[in-house]
Amino acid sequence: MSKPESPSPGRDLLTTAIHGGERRPRPGNAITTPIFQTATYVFRDTAELVDYMSGNTEREEYGRYGNPTQRVAERKCAALEGAEDGLGFASGMAAITTTLFAVLSQGQHVIMTDDCYRRTRQFCRGMLGKFGVDVTIVETGDYAALEAAVTPRTRVLISESPTNPYMKVVDLDRIADVARRHRLLTIIDSTFATPVNQRPIEHGIDLVLHSATKYLAGHNDVLGGMILGRQETIAAIRDCQGVLGGILDPHAAYLLIRGLKTLPLRVEHQNASAMRIAEMLDAHPRVDRAHYCGLPSHPGHEIARRQMKGFGGVVSFEIKGDLDATSRVVDAVEIPQIAPSLGGVESLIEQPALMSFFELTTEERLAVGIKDNLIRLSVGLENPDDLIADLRQALERV
Ligand SMILES: Cc1ncc(COP(=O)(O)O)c(C=O)c1O
Repeated sequence: MSKPESPSPGRDLLTTAIHGGERRPRPGNAITTPIFQTATYVFRDTAELVDYMSGNTEREEYGRYGNPTQRVAERKCAALEGAEDGLGFASGMAAITTTLFAVLSQGQHVIMTDDCYRRTRQFCRGMLGKFGVDVTIVETGDYAALEAAVTPRTRVLISESPTNPYMKVVDLDRIADVARRHRLLTIIDSTFATPVNQRPIEHGIDLVLHSATKYLAGHNDVLGGMILGRQETIAAIRDCQGVLGGILDPHAAYLLIRGLKTLPLRVEHQNASAMRIAEMLDAHPRVDRAHYCGLPSHPGHEIARRQMKGFGGVVSFEIKGDLDATSRVVDAVEIPQIAPSLGGVESLIEQPALMSFFELTTEERLAVGIKDNLIRLSVGLENPDDLIADLRQALERV
C-alpha cells in the first residue's frame, strides 16, 4: 500500500523539510525524487488519452504543463509554508509576472509598497500600464496611505517583508486586515524571510512568493521561483503559466528539493550568524549604522519580533566614509565575494550604489534611498567568527 505523501500535520519543520511533499515509494525505490528529464509524456492508446482529456485521470501531458520533479518541489514548499498548494517557476521574476498576469484584468488597480524588489516595481510601473492596469506605490509602513489608495478598481495589494536592503518590516496582520475589508488579493514576497522565519498565510495573506534562487535552493547554483496559496488560485496561475511558459526545469526542481531538505538548518545558522555580525557592525567605530531587523534599534524590530521566528541572514550597513572608502572595504574582505543575490551557502557582499543602482547619479540614488556608503552582506554558512574577523580587518581600510 502506498504511504502518505506528507508527514502528519504538526510535525516539526526539520521533518517536513526532509519528507514533506514526497511520495512513497519513489520510482525505482530510490530514496530521492528522480529528475524526470523529459519534454513530453506518452499515452498508451487513444482510450487513455481520451480518459485524461475528459478529466478522469491525473497525470502529466507535456513539459510546459508540469513535471513530477517540479510537483514534489511545489508540494514540499507548500508543506513548509502551510499552503494548500504551490507552483514552481523558472525564476522569482517569472513567478511574480505570471501571477500578476493571472490575477489581474484590464482596468484594475494594484497597490504596492515602495520597498519592493526593484524589478517587481519596474514590471508593475513600467509594464502593467501597457495592459491597462494602473499602480499606486505607497510608503512601506504607512498603513493610512495604503488604505487611502484603495479604489473600487483595486484588486491586488503586493508587498515584501523584510525588504531589501534596509530590512524594513511590514505588519502582515495589518496588511491582511486592510485587504479583507476591501476584498483585495494580498501577495507577500517572503524571499528574505523563508518559511523558517515567517509564514504569511498564518497571518491571513493570500499568496506567498519566493525567489527560490535565494534561501529555498540555498546553494547559489540554480534559479527558481515559487508561489504558494489556496488550491483554486494556484490552479488559475498554473493555467497562465501553461501559456506564458516560465516553468521550473526538472533539473532545477531536483536542486531545489535537495536544497529544501536543509533549509531549516541553514536558515537557523544564518539567523544566528547575521545577528552576531549585525551587533558587531552596529558597535563598530567605523560603521555609521547597521540595518538588521533583529537589532532592537531597528524601526521594524517590534513587528519583526511578533511575526518572525528569526531575523534572516542579510545585514546592511553604512560605513563612515564616501563611495570610494566603501569600495575599499568591499574589496578588502576575503571571505564574502562580490556578487548580486543572497541566501546561499557562500557569503556575498555588494555596494548597492555600484551594483543594482550603477546607472543613477548619487542624487538619483539618494532619491530612492540608496546611499553611497551602504554595503549589503548576505551571510553564508561560514563560521561567524571567521566572518567577523574578516569584516573587522576590512573596516580598517575606511
Ligand atoms: C526579494 C526578491 N524578490 C524577487 C527576486 C527575483 O528573483 P529571481 O532573481 O529568482 O528572478 C529577487 C531577486 O533578487 C528578490 O531579491
